[in-house]
Amino acid sequence: MNTLFMSKSIAGFSKLSKSKKIDWIVDTYFANAESAKGILKQYWNSDEKLQQLHDEFIENTITNYYLPLGVAPNFLINDKLYTIPMAIEESSVVAAASKAAKFWLDRGGFKTNVISTTKTGQVHFVFRGDFEKLGQFFDIVKPKLIQETKSITANMEKRGGGILNIELRDKTEDINGYYQLHASFETLDAMGANFINSCLEQFAKTFKNEALNFSLFSDEEKQIDIIMSILSNYVPDCLVRAEVSCHVDELSENSSFSGRVLAEKFVQAVNIAEIEPYRAVTHNKGIMNGIDAVVLATGNDFRAVEAGVHAYAARKGKYSSLTHAKIEDDTFKFWIEIPLALGTVGGLTSLHPLVKLALELLHKPSARELMQIIAVAGLAQNFGAIRSLTTTGIQQGHMKMHLMNILNQFEATNVEKQTLVEYFKNNTVTHSAVVEAIQELRSKN
Ligand code: MEV
Repeated sequence: MNTLFMSKSIAGFSKLSKSKKIDWIVDTYFANAESAKGILKQYWNSDEKLQQLHDEFIENTITNYYLPLGVAPNFLINDKLYTIPMAIEESSVVAAASKAAKFWLDRGGFKTNVISTTKTGQVHFVFRGDFEKLGQFFDIVKPKLIQETKSITANMEKRGGGILNIELRDKTEDINGYYQLHASFETLDAMGANFINSCLEQFAKTFKNEALNFSLFSDEEKQIDIIMSILSNYVPDCLVRAEVSCHVDELSENSSFSGRVLAEKFVQAVNIAEIEPYRAVTHNKGIMNGIDAVVLATGNDFRAVEAGVHAYAARKGKYSSLTHAKIEDDTFKFWIEIPLALGTVGGLTSLHPLVKLALELLHKPSARELMQIIAVAGLAQNFGAIRSLTTTGIQQGHMKMHLMNILNQFEATNVEKQTLVEYFKNNTVTHSAVVEAIQELRSKN
């Protein structure tokens, strides 16, 4: 075995203290151990309790990882004004969201509605025997499956949620002996992952135990083999819609393009994303720029949202756009329909101070309300991207926002920044143009 790799493995790392973990890491991997340690410590919070809270979110925490938390004001959603918090590193996203919000503020704002809020979970199991007998067993045991989860579901039921249904599904055409308990849930303001998984694990236990006593089963049939019990992040029945519309003439903000030309190009661009997967993926990535930023700021699980959204985008067998647009009787209409499983209670929402702050900024929304706000953030982001792409091109706005990153790379002073930001208001930003401008400015001083 390669001795280099051997020297880098460690036993019992998770049991070391935070400071011992850091010592091992900086000594093992860094040329300048002290400097690496300094950077890690620089990001610690000076409030020890707050730091401990963050340390305990995960295992082996060594420091905090900052992302900017920005806000996009002026979002009018169903006649209510919102300032939307966004946690994201990409320079142009918040600016684009704010611009789109302001644009639609003057044109009636966004209209949204929740289409459905059902979530799904499955117990995957193997049964080798007579399917008819399994069906009879399922019908008999189903009330017991629900009964034996009562301690888990009582609180959720009090608030109007809980288990909606459990079905037996035969998947033996795909895998020999493979069946599912396919269950649906209403989890109200909770994202519901823990609730659903606890119910499923209880279903599995009850199902397996009861099978042992089902007299119609043979000895082999009594041995139901539970493979796993887990919620699904595919949530096509937890769906929200957001839309904007205006007269085509109102789309134009200046005399360079008529509203109709803009509308037609816009619709064409969306049509392309509907039929061309190479474009659809980038189109949807832009939508997720807006969605993920709010999902993250509000302490929700962006990996779950990402997985569910992209599966939905491919639900017809071909990956396609999440947004749609048309012109109807001189009215431009642009909308998104998207699955979003979110929570505004539980998880990080009651733990992370910035998440609590973000939710208060959003008027402490219910999960249904948050679905609508986040769908709007996605639609607004896509509106900004398509509008730039079909008019000026994306780089103009993008590079303007990226200018600050380049200036920071060159450690520009505040005075240099001011001078160069002013200069690039009328000049095209490229990396080399910025470098040249910095050099010229510095050569004069
Ligand atoms: C960049 O992060 C996102 C865009 O590429 C989205 C799009 O092309 O629609 C600009």
